[in-house]
Amino acid sequence: MNAQPNRGEGDSRVAVYPGSFDPATFGHLDIIRRAAKQFDHLIVAVLNNTTKSPLFSVEERKELLREVTKDLPNVEIDSFRDLLVRYMRSRQAQIIIRGIRSVTDFEYELQMASTNRQLDEGIETIFMMTNPKYSYLSSSIVKEIAKFHGTVQDLVPPAVEVALQRKYDANRLP
Ligand code: PNS
Repeated sequence: MNAQPNRGEGDSRVAVYPGSFDPATFGHLDIIRRAAKQFDHLIVAVLNNTTKSPLFSVEERKELLREVTKDLPNVEIDSFRDLLVRYMRSRQAQIIIRGIRSVTDFEYELQMASTNRQLDEGIETIFMMTNPKYSYLSSSIVKEIAKFHGTVQDLVPPAVEVALQRKYDANRLP
């Protein structure tokens, strides 16, 4: 039995911020930056979900996340294709970070946190309120705007903006 339930990998406080990140937005980056200040090591874990058809591959999403977090030395980018609690165990981490934008997120997040606790009672979910500046922002909204060649520069980091342009230019009909 671990005497320090919130500690993982050696003696450091490890947290996992899981998500689809298809693609990462300023809202995600805000949570990453703030969570990185609270923990020794933050693992941003991209879900490799074979049943969804994301715009960006897992490798592309990880590469973009690496690019936009390169100034944060205690942030690691990884991916998983398992139950989150199993992945957490494999990384000896017990804290999940999730961002909440509004009350509409709450029900889903509560269900997910309760499920994860049911699956592994050693897992704790910590919610961070998204900066109100980004409370309306989602990866889906960003993709919708970019698809119609609208400007997303206030919504995503420059590397993501370029990657979105490339994706939608490549898919543009002649
Ligand atoms: O960014 P998202 O899509 O809201 O992230 C959802 C995510 C990846 C955190 C969630 O779907 C997840 O953890 N999936 C892994 C499968 C799992 O463990 N499911 C049980 C918890 S609901």
